[in-house]
Amino acid sequence: MNLSSRRIVTLAFALAASTLLTLQNASAQTNPPAAPAGDQTRGKAAFMSYGCYECHGTVAQGNYFGAPHLAPHPIPFAALLGYIRKPAGQMPSYAASILPEKDVSDIYAYLSSIPAGKTAPEIPMLSGVTTKPK
Ligand code: HEC
Repeated sequence: MNLSSRRIVTLAFALAASTLLTLQNASAQTNPPAAPAGDQTRGKAAFMSYGCYECHGTVAQGNYFGAPHLAPHPIPFAALLGYIRKPAGQMPSYAASILPEKDVSDIYAYLSSIPAGKTAPEIPMLSGVTTKPK
């Protein structure tokens, strides 16, 4: 391979790499579609009446039977809806005839309203606790 053909190969690689990066950035920038508006009060009631709380906990903290936490910071609405309709593991599925999308929107509004817990420095009893050796 002479110098100029090596240069062409290098250029081709650089071009391919930058194209890939551009594509990656483009897909990272497409935000998931916004969740439909829902009513968090009705959503909390639905979360209880459909039995989500039995496995996910009343504030969606997770743990029972290995069910993960759903809040704070719920996964995108489309992903949540998709999982409810077609779960991949232990969770029972909820068909649209059982759990209409409107109720899922309300449940999503409830999950989105659950605040994150405090960090240790924000809790008075823990604020002096340090993990650093003295
Ligand atoms: C019988 C227990 C049970 C009930 C009831 C239940 N889930 Fe689950 N759920 C699970 C478990 C266990 C998982 C973990 C994955 C699996 O095994 O399916 C899960 C996973 C999920 C996930 C995926 C979470 C993620 O981060 O990928 C969502 C979303 C979810 N559940 C929502 C709900 C909603 C909303 C309800 C009520 C309509 C509900 N679940 C009712 C047990 C349950």
